[in-house]
Amino acid sequence: MPQTASAAADDWTVPQDWAAYTSAEHALWDRLFARQSQQLVGRAVPAFLQGLDVLHLSRPGIPDFAELSEKLTALTGWSVVSVPGLVPDEVFFEHLAHRRFVAGRFIRRPDQIDYLEEPDVFHDVFGHVPLLSDPVFADYMQAYGEGGLRAVRLGAIKRLARLYWHTVEFGLIRSAEGLRIYGAGIVSSHGESLYALESPKPPRIAFDLRRVMRTRYNIDDYQPAYFVIDRFEDLLRQTLETDFAPLYRALEASPDIEPGEVISADRLIPLDRPSPGGKAP
Ligand SMILES: [Fe+2]
Repeated sequence: MPQTASAAADDWTVPQDWAAYTSAEHALWDRLFARQSQQLVGRAVPAFLQGLDVLHLSRPGIPDFAELSEKLTALTGWSVVSVPGLVPDEVFFEHLAHRRFVAGRFIRRPDQIDYLEEPDVFHDVFGHVPLLSDPVFADYMQAYGEGGLRAVRLGAIKRLARLYWHTVEFGLIRSAEGLRIYGAGIVSSHGESLYALESPKPPRIAFDLRRVMRTRYNIDDYQPAYFVIDRFEDLLRQTLETDFAPLYRALEASPDIEPGEVISADRLIPLDRPSPGGKAP
């Protein structure tokens, strides 16, 4: 998620400087990758698991963004660029709108293997890049970036950021076999990738665009509720077809909904109930 950092190029990108990573840093990536890719079998959406292939490059360890981008560009036209940390919202949206995903280049310390606040290269690349190889999700991310640039002009970033948070970062999706994870914040977290699917505590609420944009979120703990989509096509269609300017104005009159709060209009999705007659997305 966007914020501030020291400026680099005009677009805030910096060289990844792959040669500067230590062997211990590469080993930590490999350890995180092995642990999490095993954990996600049967838990992540199939498109994510297939997309993990894009991260298998000619050398093990932290991916070289140049080689990664070459593979990704051939699939969906996306590339991965390196930034020094969190970047301003408009810069973030501008990159997304041009199919460039901004990724942090540092990797967490070994004592942060289970939790860190600022997104590192494992969160950004393992968490986000696999689904950028899915054509529909790739289009959604670009549409989100374009929507972000419009939201900057309309002063509505806060509401649009909630859409990103509750889908791209922490979304769940229904499949014929039951609920699956697609949000990057969940797939890159060893603890939350179990909690989100198995804990009886958090409600799983059917996705509704207006409702999601009214819903605040916590950044420092597991999510107290998750929003569930049926398929990526729905996210893309709603993002492309909704006229957000009047929606933002209408939402000004609607109170925020607290994290984890369930409202009467919510449709709750039981754990492990497959979508009716549905195909896996
Ligand atoms: Fe993220």
